[in-house]
Amino acid sequence: MWRNEYQAKLTSVGEAVAKIKSNMRVVIGHACSEPAKLVEAMVQEKSNFKNVEIIHMVAMGKGEYTNPEMREHFRHNALFVGGSTRKAVNENRADYTPCFFYEIPRLFRDGSLDIDVAMIQVSEPDEHGFCSYGLSNDYTKPATENAKVVIAEVNKCMPRTFGDNFIHVSKIDAIVETNYPLIELPRPQLGDVEKKIGENCAKLVEDGSTLQLGIGAIPDAVLLSLKDKKDLGIHSEMFSDGVVDLYEAGVITNDKKSIHKGKMVVTFMMGTRRLYDFIDNNPSVELYPVDYVNNPMVIAKNNKMVSINSCIEVDMMGQVSSESIGLRQFSGTGGQVDYVRGSSMAEGGKSIIAMPSTAKGGKASRIVPVLKSGSAVTTSRNDVHYIVTEYGIADLRGKTLKDRAMALIKIAHPDFREDLLKSFEERFEK
Ligand code: COA
Repeated sequence: MWRNEYQAKLTSVGEAVAKIKSNMRVVIGHACSEPAKLVEAMVQEKSNFKNVEIIHMVAMGKGEYTNPEMREHFRHNALFVGGSTRKAVNENRADYTPCFFYEIPRLFRDGSLDIDVAMIQVSEPDEHGFCSYGLSNDYTKPATENAKVVIAEVNKCMPRTFGDNFIHVSKIDAIVETNYPLIELPRPQLGDVEKKIGENCAKLVEDGSTLQLGIGAIPDAVLLSLKDKKDLGIHSEMFSDGVVDLYEAGVITNDKKSIHKGKMVVTFMMGTRRLYDFIDNNPSVELYPVDYVNNPMVIAKNNKMVSINSCIEVDMMGQVSSESIGLRQFSGTGGQVDYVRGSSMAEGGKSIIAMPSTAKGGKASRIVPVLKSGSAVTTSRNDVHYIVTEYGIADLRGKTLKDRAMALIKIAHPDFREDLLKSFEERFEK
């Protein structure tokens, strides 16, 4: 029965994107699940559209809808700024909306961000007519559930992944069959600084902990330093190839998790084909919408929850700026605060912000007396717990402003400690 419906909904990319009309709001499937052929066709057909709002988070595709010549056709509203959309946001050709990742589905539901069209990419249907959301459930599934029109690429290369992670063919309005490799995120290069940071973070991870790891070199370095741990679990916004290594080595078992025992719980994934093959039809990995996975109350149910994220700057009070460099919006809040708060509330939980002590090739300290003018505070000084650099660990919770400042100076790069001490004296000892 669903097979007839599937056949009837099959269409060309051109016809599928013709369902978009001027002044509509379109949500694009997230990160490596971006439906590249549909986005490409929409951009090609730009002359048919005026003032179409494009919602996305980590844009891993080309982001051509933000090019200057697209101005009258598309306006991008970034809920997190990715590499391909950063320039447009900072040149005011696109917008950024501050938000916690876990709250995005609510914005779709409560009318703050009414959605006209969801353009997504899913796996081929199973024998019951259910397509899997594959790599990205996050806001993508909630977007389809709130959109007036759902357009889907059914890509043979999309892995079939489990959890609350399926859409039935009957819920899709137009289907385009595709067969091309998914966007991949190459494994990061690890330098000595990242390895040292990884080792310092690993000192805070006890056997039986459940981990959340962000994107990039530091999370990978942390994973590399966890080889001797036992019975780790994963409850994370995302994970990448590094987790597969530790799972196959028997370090990640998920056996000691207090919820979803035996399962890695995640809301989206980015990595190489190795990761995508690992998660395909693998019942040990489950995806749920971000308003479940990143909900601080859900995160807090994981005993010994450890979250590890990174930042741009930390001031001497422990205010963490992770998403902007002064007024320049670099990324977004994403799930950082969701996990900082969730892990702080968890029994035996710890939240770690890990970063190299310097930026700009050693020219700038990331530990500073005050944040750059205009920088957004991502994690507040009330929420912050551990700050880790290659020089050590600063435990800020329950410490006075003065004691925090000293703990942070101790893990700053030695080249900047003298200046930081001068600021310390001016502030606390005059
Ligand atoms: N002063 C000036 N520039 C700085 C700086 C500082 N203190 N710190 C970083 N920068 C610049 C770097 O030079 C680099 O610039 P470039 O792109 O021109 O080379 C840029 O900012 C990014 O810095 P880097 O530390 O290399 O970025 P990263 O890829 O390791 O990502 C964050 C770090 C903080 C941006 C990233 O983790 C993030 O977006 N976090 C917020 C969201 C989050 O935590 N989500 C968690 C769940 S996934």
